[in-house]
Amino acid sequence: MSQVIRVENIAQYVGQEVTVQGWVYNRTHKGKLVFLLVRDGYGFVQCVAFKNDLPAETFQTIVHIPQESSITITGVVRADERAPGIPGGYEIGITGFEVVQAAEEDYPIALKEHGVDFLLDNRHFWIRVPSQWAILRIRATIISAIREWLDDHGYINMDTPILTPSAGEDTTTLFETEYFDEGKVYLDQTGQLYNEANIFAFKKVYCFGPTFRAEKSKTRRHLTEFWMVEPEIAFCDLDQLMEIEEQFVSHIVRRVLERRQPELRALGRDVSALEKIVPPFPRISYDQALEMLAEIREQTTDPQQKQLLEIEWGSDFGAPHETALTQRFDKPVFVYGYPSAAKAFYMEPWPGRPEVCKSVDLLAPEGYGEIIGGSERISDPALLLRRLHEQNQPEEAYRWYIDLRRYGSVPHSGFGLGVERTVTWICGITHIRETIPYPRTIKRVYP
Ligand code: 4AD
Ligand code: MG
Repeated sequence: MSQVIRVENIAQYVGQEVTVQGWVYNRTHKGKLVFLLVRDGYGFVQCVAFKNDLPAETFQTIVHIPQESSITITGVVRADERAPGIPGGYEIGITGFEVVQAAEEDYPIALKEHGVDFLLDNRHFWIRVPSQWAILRIRATIISAIREWLDDHGYINMDTPILTPSAGEDTTTLFETEYFDEGKVYLDQTGQLYNEANIFAFKKVYCFGPTFRAEKSKTRRHLTEFWMVEPEIAFCDLDQLMEIEEQFVSHIVRRVLERRQPELRALGRDVSALEKIVPPFPRISYDQALEMLAEIREQTTDPQQKQLLEIEWGSDFGAPHETALTQRFDKPVFVYGYPSAAKAFYMEPWPGRPEVCKSVDLLAPEGYGEIIGGSERISDPALLLRRLHEQNQPEEAYRWYIDLRRYGSVPHSGFGLGVERTVTWICGITHIRETIPYPRTIKRVYP
């Protein structure tokens, strides 16, 4: 056996004999030639069996090898522009072929069109196909770019609890469970509150983990279990927060462009749209966003769309508003200064305008919408207590959180970036369910 390679590195082996351990993704037979599209976990490569080059028995095995059989192939790498694959442009002339297991003939995801429910029921197989594989490889790169940027910029990773005694965000989306003799506890909606404690020990922190929201809405943007990274920074106001966010998001996109070109190509992603993602990002206030939406409504002739775009001052944006707004931008756009009533209790009021808070959402361009929610936090204990009372939150559960403001309080800010929303945008796909290996939605917990 020659050297076992990773298909992603195949360009380095032109003219050499190599071994690929993998699976048969597709097979076509043309006279004396059989073309196998083989995947090895790192890529997809065309392998060609020529009858005259192989023992008759081996050739016959290849002619009949079922889709998804596990195999070990040896052969010589050739550059050939026409060869399909990811990265593509190379093929292997087969000199040796071993079957590890001949797959059963009734593989559920045969190579034809399937409905999305069927594919989701077969998610454990669906992840083998090029589009899904490419999305999940890009996801992994996004996650490592997130950690890399934060670790390189003085942030320390602090894991926050998943079982929590109180709500961090909207109380209507809590998953609850009984906790021994302690009563009800909830799956975490955010690690932010704990990170606000952590910054007073470590200054700049982040948590990065699964987040749970019992979202009743069935949309293309919501999961019930998703991954969020939440940086929190002491001595940081809203303007500084926006600067951090644009550096952070630009770094993530740059890393994907550097490391995942073949995957982006496999998805048909318009890479030039991603190349525009460099700081600074445009910043508009909530009030300006409402004016833009009013203009867009003016110009809309479709009555249904007109109705969807209706919004009163005081409401948070829905998906139609975000889509319409961000179609006007080719970079992510910051919308700051939302009405306090539309946002969580912990946001610092706007100086001189208490009905507005120092919040900022980052909306991805091309119609994608919110990928980040963030804000400057209330640093005055009395004000925080008042806000909790206004929202009928139980003061006792938040005692520790209020106390943070009594011993060395400082202006501080933070944000949460949703991994799956970010993957959806960067991959240029339409639905969030394809951005996580095993999606959890209101209607799906299998497999
Ligand atoms: O805007 P959200 O609710 O903000 C917070 O949770 C803050 N505590 C974060 C912070 O300041 N530390 O959520 C942040 C992001 C959203 O912008 C979105 O990307 C993602 O989390 N997100 C979801 N992603 C998928 N499915 C859902 N149901 C999501 N809800 C929020
Ligand atoms: Mg939000």
